[in-house]
Amino acid sequence: MNGSGSYEVTFLPSGKQAKVRPGTSVLDASRRAGLSIATRCGGKAACLMCKVRDASGRQAGLSAVADNERYKLGGMHEEGYRLACQAKVTGDASIEVPEDPLHAAIRKQLERQREEEDSLW
Ligand code: FES
Repeated sequence: MNGSGSYEVTFLPSGKQAKVRPGTSVLDASRRAGLSIATRCGGKAACLMCKVRDASGRQAGLSAVADNERYKLGGMHEEGYRLACQAKVTGDASIEVPEDPLHAAIRKQLERQREEEDSLW
């Protein structure tokens, strides 16, 4: 915690940061950092679209995994995944934001097209 009573949350791979008060959800922290993590359920632990990963590997700076979050994530919480709408900031934290599945599909398609074009020349 710094002198203003807030913690610093760093989002990877962008490196964007936000200073937030203890108890702020990781989802709200991401928005303060200027990221737009897509959601459908409005933060009710229902859509699973806000999955992020604890980059510290030891849940540093994050609240304990709640029962409903553990249930929704299945075994993924053991790999460090959290629901950004449920995980609360309790200290300085480092969070990995997975690539949006739609963006990933478009990126892969563009890479394939580029490879095909390169092989024609
Ligand atoms: S916003 Fe839907 S599960 Fe987190």
